[in-house]
Amino acid sequence: MVASEATPFAKTGGLADVIGALPRALKSQGHEPAVVLPLYASAEKVLPASSRVYDGLSLWLGSTRWSADIRLLTHDGVAFYFVDCPPLYGRDGIYGTQAGDYPDNHIRFAALCYAALGIARYLFRPDIIHCHDWQTAALAPLLKFRFQGDPTFMAMKTLLTIHNLGYQGLFGRSALTGIGLDDKLFQPRALEFYGMVNLLKGGILFSDALSTVSKGYAKEIQTPKHGFGLDDLLRARAGSLTGIVNGVDYTEWNPEHDTHIAANYTAADFSGKQACKRDLLDTFGLPAGEVEMDRPLIGIVSRFAGQKGFDLIEDIAPDLTAEDVSLVVIGSGDARYENVFRSLAAAHPNRFAVKVAYSEAIAHKVEAGADMFLMPSRYEPCGLNQIYSLRYGTVPIVRATGGLDDTIDEETGFKFREYSGSALLDAVRAALTAYRDKKNWREMMVNGMKKNFSWDASAAEYSALYRRLIG
Ligand code: ADP
Ligand code: GLC
Repeated sequence: MVASEATPFAKTGGLADVIGALPRALKSQGHEPAVVLPLYASAEKVLPASSRVYDGLSLWLGSTRWSADIRLLTHDGVAFYFVDCPPLYGRDGIYGTQAGDYPDNHIRFAALCYAALGIARYLFRPDIIHCHDWQTAALAPLLKFRFQGDPTFMAMKTLLTIHNLGYQGLFGRSALTGIGLDDKLFQPRALEFYGMVNLLKGGILFSDALSTVSKGYAKEIQTPKHGFGLDDLLRARAGSLTGIVNGVDYTEWNPEHDTHIAANYTAADFSGKQACKRDLLDTFGLPAGEVEMDRPLIGIVSRFAGQKGFDLIEDIAPDLTAEDVSLVVIGSGDARYENVFRSLAAAHPNRFAVKVAYSEAIAHKVEAGADMFLMPSRYEPCGLNQIYSLRYGTVPIVRATGGLDDTIDEETGFKFREYSGSALLDAVRAALTAYRDKKNWREMMVNGMKKNFSWDASAAEYSALYRRLIG
């Protein structure tokens, strides 16, 4: 597997959770997975200096040579190969800084692809190279056009998993030669896309197989509405496209033994959840008296991005605040959505609070301490937090799209379909009403807690896909 993020080494979103957990599940099913990741400055600390397994691997991107050392860490039984190239990865951010994305991201991630091919040549010979998202989508076109005829790679197959079609890796025309591909590929039947180079498109066209992270999203991306301009290509490749829902790493996300939360609890006895709610209110600086403990508390943990549907919350702000409800939000990203939540908190400081931050510990506290978890996404390839919520007895309120629609049903949560403030408000109101019926509410919590989205079933589906791929 080649990816740009994996827990516990580097994370901005759900991709990291997947790459941190899926290989282990595959290993327990008899596969021999290895993961190739960049050695970001943040991951450097966790690696022992003695881990070097290859010195000075040459990465030729066109006429430019980069040199990388390869370091190996076996983590939970899985081999992680880190590409150590400080000029490319030894920076503060993973993709960029506050000022925006790094302008050389095409170089940084193409170099990761070249390094993966070097590792496949010298250190670890895979049957399948499994790439993830635009960052590693260039690997398939590189194999096809740069390493064509190279006996090392002849039998190797490529799989590209699309975690989010909204991010495609768009760069100017010179990026093609910059990463060592021929400018002739700047044409609509190859990597050209509305006057830009589109790396994800290259992966969609030239990978042997494609997958995405839920069955629902696999269908949606073949429609103009959710296809981000690539739906025609995805329809053309429908026979090679599989939807496999993400699993959950229950060693990380489980109220029975979660070390980030105030008290542990189970479906048989969730008295500890009250202590978690009190602690969560405290963490966000909200009062935690009898009234507040009784009042339904909604939680949000999210990247602040257009995808996540927070403009709907902006639309219904006056109606939402008129309800007897509290809201705690942790997230970061687009300033527009930070401001949506900041103004809610400013107007109702005793009931609404936001932390513009990234904190693993607080994310766990929200999952455990909230009564409901809100994800009004405009689109959602899979979504992990709603599945985590189920295990924590925190009832999800979600928009019925992609993986949210696939993973939440009437027994476990509240869904709305139309992308509108009024539909969202109806769903929230239905949840608030249901909350008052304690017996039914507990039933709903327990229904969710009993669901099992462990990686085993999804890994078995990947396994079947791998077998089809290698015939
Ligand atoms: P996406 O990958 O689109 O961001 P997912 O629901 O698949 O959405 O995964 C999001 C992951 O990132 C979850 O593990 C979630 O807990 C984590 N996350 C998002 N924002 C934050 C934050 N501000 N602090 C901590 N964890 C966060
Ligand atoms: C993406 C998607 C999210 C998915 C995650 C992991 O970031 O936005 O829905 O759960 O990838 O596959």
